[in-house]
Amino acid sequence: MTVTRRNFITALGLGGAGVLAAPVLATRGREHDLWAAALGEFGTAPAGLIRLDSNENPNGPGVRAFEAIKAMFGEANRYPDVPEDALVAAIAKEHGVSEENVILGCGSSEILRLCVEAYTSTAQHLVTAAPTFELPASFAKTLGRPVMTVPVDAKLRLDLDAMADKAGGAGLIFFCNPNNPTATVHGDGAVRDFVARVHRASPATVILVDEAYHEYVDDPSYRTAIPMALTDPNVIVSRTFSKVFGMAGLRAGYAIAHKDTARKLQAWRLGSGINVLALAAATASIVDHEHIALEQKRNREAKAFTRAWFEKAGFEVGASEANFLMIDIRRDMRPVREACRKEGIAVGRPFPPLTTHLRISIGTMDEMQKATDVLKRALA
Ligand SMILES: Cc1ncc(COP(=O)(O)O)c(C=O)c1O
Repeated sequence: MTVTRRNFITALGLGGAGVLAAPVLATRGREHDLWAAALGEFGTAPAGLIRLDSNENPNGPGVRAFEAIKAMFGEANRYPDVPEDALVAAIAKEHGVSEENVILGCGSSEILRLCVEAYTSTAQHLVTAAPTFELPASFAKTLGRPVMTVPVDAKLRLDLDAMADKAGGAGLIFFCNPNNPTATVHGDGAVRDFVARVHRASPATVILVDEAYHEYVDDPSYRTAIPMALTDPNVIVSRTFSKVFGMAGLRAGYAIAHKDTARKLQAWRLGSGINVLALAAATASIVDHEHIALEQKRNREAKAFTRAWFEKAGFEVGASEANFLMIDIRRDMRPVREACRKEGIAVGRPFPPLTTHLRISIGTMDEMQKATDVLKRALA
């Protein structure tokens, strides 16, 4: 069956017919086609642009998310209290935690902002890295809160020793694991040692472990910090539906924290910050293990293809435990980025101080084949 805009709408049940189960099953694994069909009319991307610049999942949400959105559409006129409770319950069940440990956010960005607001002050600085995900530092700067930035080490890993050295008197430490944009990860032992060291140096400092790319990690030494967060009021773990779940445009994320910490953070939330459609899609997605496994596999394959291409072209490609690669192209990345853009490929922005590194998000295999053709010329 070719997926056209018309049968996409029909599959969602918005076109009147509303027959869902059979078409949905038939489209399992072809979520990208569903999205592409929809984008034809409603998309905002310039036609044909291949977007490898924001670490999104190119395939979009799973089919169960589509089904859930369709079923929830009739509730669009209602405030989302009941769907919020449903998502909290689903997250709690999935992680084997209490509902009191869960805080929802409009994307994990809201969680990051809550933490900066709640734990930093003019006297209690934020410790972050360079480069890492910029949002906590930019929130802190907007609020006039001091920021201490620690460069990554020569292997592009967060320099945990140097970050711990800056912990004294800090309100919050932002620990992105895996780190965006360097794609490096720290194993369980290193995370635990870091937390213990920070606690010794500065008992009141809170550590926010951002696990946005958790599902993409293959390194066997890695573990989620959620068990630590459950018993330690000064450790918070953030997660998102924007990456492996393919819902960056829907905006849903969450944190897992000790119940006292969760209660404190709840007070800073924007009430009803997630819309009913995103809530429904997230609730359906978090238990859709088949979809998660499919997206992990697709990412692994397209990433291996891309890595092999760069290595064959003579570039060293570091470890990547995420859905993007960070490659030292040994020249200013800006003209290369510009050249790619002119040929319809969007790649990552500069991430100072790594100005000769190119961050490329992993798209579909077809997109990566096209991107490497363009990169061949741009890097010639
Ligand atoms: C490490 C990290 N954390 C958080 C976010 C924010 O994601 P969202 O607000 O979509 O959950 C991103 C987005 O790229 C990210 O890379």
